[in-house]
Amino acid sequence: MMKKTASKKLTHLAIIMDGNGRWAQKRGLPRAMGHRAGVEALRRIVELCPGNQIEYLTVYAFSTENWKRPQTEVQALMALLNEFIDKELTLLHQNGVCIRVLGDIEPLAPSLRKKIDHAMAITAQNKKLVLSLALNYGGRRELLQAAKALAYRALKGENPENWQEDDLAAELFTKGMPEPDLLIRTGGDLRVSNFLLWQIAYTELWCTDIFWPDFGEEELMAALAAFKGRQRRFGGV
Ligand code: IPE
Ligand code: IPE
Ligand code: MG
Repeated sequence: MMKKTASKKLTHLAIIMDGNGRWAQKRGLPRAMGHRAGVEALRRIVELCPGNQIEYLTVYAFSTENWKRPQTEVQALMALLNEFIDKELTLLHQNGVCIRVLGDIEPLAPSLRKKIDHAMAITAQNKKLVLSLALNYGGRRELLQAAKALAYRALKGENPENWQEDDLAAELFTKGMPEPDLLIRTGGDLRVSNFLLWQIAYTELWCTDIFWPDFGEEELMAALAAFKGRQRRFGGV
């Protein structure tokens, strides 16, 4: 079930962490260095969430379209994910962070998958912050999968006429999570890039030209302040 949250409380923050490559290029560094700096930025933001009453942080780490990148870059991203879990898991766990994955991790290397499964298993009961990593995630892929799940249920005898929006929502990776209140996109582009298509129906959007590795407390506070000033009407008056 998708829970609706009170309009001014920012319970769920979603972020399209874009601009790592350009951040590196600007400095004459390889793109992989931008991704490394991006991991640092993520660590900073994770730490800031509980103090700002954010209970869910969902970040776009790797899209279903990002496989189109050169193999070396894909490998560098996977290596960083490996390293992130190795280095951060203990501290994340100590700080009460529950790790979830949105997306299909089946195509990832078995050793990395094992690591991710382990991270999710040991942090499953943590309540301070739910950190969802969108990995090999695509909003359209997610909706297709949900449609298939419903179709199979119909084949088994359920009557589709009985289904409501929540029945579809319950087949998404975000099952049980509230919808994002605010979506931040860094890196200057003004698009959704196949992220959380269903879930952001009434999410407030905040975009900045800042590249993700430069995103820190100051930028987060600016985004949260902007959110506080928004009038959320959800279609009402
Ligand atoms: C976002 O940074 C990180 C991922 C997509 C994994 P980019 O790598 O897209 O950086 P730019 O947009 O090329 O600068
Ligand atoms: C979105 O960034 C995906 C992630 C941040 C993981 P992209 O760089 O892949 O998006 P486009 O290509 O600019 O739309
Ligand atoms: Mg990009």
